[in-house]
Amino acid sequence: MKIVCLPGDGVGPEVMDVARRALNALAPDLELEEHVFGASAIRSAGNPLPEETLTACRRADAVLKGPIGDPEFDAAPVRPEQGLLRLRGELDVYANLRPAVQGAVDLLIVRELVGGLYFGVSGVREDGTAFDTCEYTPAQVERVARRAFELARTRRQHVTSVDKANVLETSRLWRRVVNEVARDYDDVVLEHMLVDNAAMQLASSPERFDVLVTENMFGDILSDLAAAMTGGLGLAPSASLGDIGAGLFEPVHGSAPDIAGHGIVNPAAMLRSTALLLEHGFGRTTEARTLEEAVDAALAAAPTRDLGGDATTKAFGAAVLAGC
Ligand code: NAD
Ligand code: IPM
Ligand code: MN
Repeated sequence: MKIVCLPGDGVGPEVMDVARRALNALAPDLELEEHVFGASAIRSAGNPLPEETLTACRRADAVLKGPIGDPEFDAAPVRPEQGLLRLRGELDVYANLRPAVQGAVDLLIVRELVGGLYFGVSGVREDGTAFDTCEYTPAQVERVARRAFELARTRRQHVTSVDKANVLETSRLWRRVVNEVARDYDDVVLEHMLVDNAAMQLASSPERFDVLVTENMFGDILSDLAAAMTGGLGLAPSASLGDIGAGLFEPVHGSAPDIAGHGIVNPAAMLRSTALLLEHGFGRTTEARTLEEAVDAALAAAPTRDLGGDATTKAFGAAVLAGC
């Protein structure tokens, strides 16, 4: 069994180091193989997702990814983010699970990950006009909706489908298809909510949500908001799953260039993503629980700076490893 590790950029290598140690302690039989990806791969290979890296990811049983992105390439023709979108698309990991849990809040955002504005035709015309287009096929909506309903069955049987059906044609399609899928799940309660209202309700009463399902860009924005409501980006993990092949596991946060290299990044989001990898990628529920509990204990004993503490990444990592 093989895991491809992509440390990525900025704080990526710092959080990947802790994750690798935890995996070595909890599941020493899983083979870890490292490949370049993101800004570092543009520098060394001229491509954020070199062919060897993509081939290795396709052959792996799971991919563990650190954040990518570097201000150096903000205005460059080739950007690290393009490699990430290509990887998600090539692996066809259409369902991006972003749980947010703290106190009375226990919600799961299921974000469509390989369609919509991120993958539509875009460009700049001669007159300077820029455009991005949003497209969804009924099949793209159906498969992610089905995944959301299946997950709701294992939770509190409630799905909130988030769209902008009062304005967007793609959202009206979204709503129609979600309603059709809902007929197969009469044990699950479905509500529709417009995205602006969803943002307001996530900020004012996040505990009212169970599963949210939404398109790519709405899910991107709402998942940072959900993270902020439940302890911050330092804690928020994600799992991206398709129907076959390797799943992709990565924190919700980015490369945090403002704190990279200082040894103070919170590795909890990366470690929780590693727990999702153990559970969803390998069915190792026991090891996943052990890791989650070790992270919770470290959060109480050695909180990092984003949480108001003063523990370094190293000290937090040591506290986690003590529980593995
Ligand atoms: P960011 O998530 O990197 O950082 C936002 C803020 O949160 C910063 O102040 C940062 O220090 C803080 N933060 C984030 N993660 C933290 C952690 N684990 N511990 C402590 N503090 C943490 O967002 P940004 O600054 O908008 O983006 C920076 C780069 O990351 C951009 O190039 C962007 O494209 C990229 N990005 C990549 C991913 C990914 O690889 N999946 C996700 C988001 C952003
Ligand atoms: C995320 C990130 C990415 C996204 C960027 C870096 C392309 O913000 O994983 O949330 O928007 O999907
Ligand atoms: Mn994001």
